[in-house]
Amino acid sequence: MYVRQLALRDFRSWESVDLELGPGRTVFVGSNGFGKTNLIEALWYSTTLGSHRVGSDAPLIREGAARAVVSTIVVNEGRECAVDLEIVAGRANKARLNRSPVRSTREVVGVLRCVLFAPEDLALVRGDPAERRRYLDDLATVRRPRIAGVRADYEKVLRQRTALLKSLAGARYRRGQEALDTLDVWDSRLAEHGAELMAARIDLVNELAPEVEKAYQLLAPASRPASINYRASMDGLGGADEGTDPEFLEAALLAALAARRDAELDRGMCLVGPHRDDLELRLGDQPAKGFASHGESWSFAVALRLGAYELLRADGGEPVLLLDDVFAELDTARRRALAAVAESAEQVLVTAAVLEDIPDGWDAKRVHIDLRDGEAGRVSVVQA
Ligand SMILES: Nc1ncnc2c1ncn2[C@@H]1O[C@H](COP(=O)(O)OP(=O)(O)O)[C@@H](O)[C@H]1O
Ligand SMILES: [Mg+2]
Repeated sequence: MYVRQLALRDFRSWESVDLELGPGRTVFVGSNGFGKTNLIEALWYSTTLGSHRVGSDAPLIREGAARAVVSTIVVNEGRECAVDLEIVAGRANKARLNRSPVRSTREVVGVLRCVLFAPEDLALVRGDPAERRRYLDDLATVRRPRIAGVRADYEKVLRQRTALLKSLAGARYRRGQEALDTLDVWDSRLAEHGAELMAARIDLVNELAPEVEKAYQLLAPASRPASINYRASMDGLGGADEGTDPEFLEAALLAALAARRDAELDRGMCLVGPHRDDLELRLGDQPAKGFASHGESWSFAVALRLGAYELLRADGGEPVLLLDDVFAELDTARRRALAAVAESAEQVLVTAAVLEDIPDGWDAKRVHIDLRDGEAGRVSVVQA
């Protein structure tokens, strides 16, 4: 697939931009701060309904504007699909599919499938479990758009259950039976949606693991072998060979909730569920986090993205490859591996501060991004 058109209104630094794109390689060239990553971020937003840089939507809306609009036309095996996303501060976002409004923005998930390589990816290895959960959930969502609903349902239950626990924390002698009954209801809903989310993640990790191991081996042949493993917060669950039967997971979650109830009430927080899980990354028999060198960490991060790319490709419909500033970041071996993948991709969109950062011999279309009339923060595009 490829993006034929990207149009932004009041998205980040872009007041208005309309780009015609095509298959093959395109490089966005421009000085730092001119809005290159903002273009990539908009495409990622269309893919996952979230930013890869921030957890909320508000920073995506241009300062002083009330809403941002990200519009794309995606061509997939000859069929065109237009997606418009309106990001509104403090209210529900809106979406249109082929210019017709849809009930939920989630209905446009899956139209555009991208794999993004970004400087932020190092956090996949070195950062908190939340980074790795988001990696898994984003990939699961792109592959199976239905997961967007599962995530939303789980997050809602988690928020409400947490609010209830918080209100009961410290009120030990005032907890009525009614409140505890309500908590029971939230337990079963958390277990139900949590089990679905966990099953999706464990399935994904089972498919992903061999791809990531292969990719890492290619990137760092001299290093110890890499492996990934889903690590559930509840005891004795979540190994690669675990069953992923949602009913089994639901029962296990319910049992874990019952076992931790006192602790949850004491602390006023939700201690059980997929929001506490992690994707464990190992090199040999050590965890990558805290043990891997800088180079190994980068290899692992790139391998996670390459694994994602391979899975999406196997699903059919070549994903779009987004490479944000990564060539400057990587050493020769990793650059070469990434360039090799990019050779075969249907569409590759790359950002670079200078053209020297792009691999030699790449015949790529160039989009120059410059300041417009010297006006601070405003940018225009010169298509070369
Ligand atoms: N919500 C926003 N409103 C206006 N400008 C923004 C907003 N968010 C980010 N910017 C600006 O966007 C610029 C960074 O754009 P970015 O795409 O990261 O640059 P680069 O070309 O280096 O990748 C900064 O100048 C920043 O101030
Ligand atoms: Mg950038």
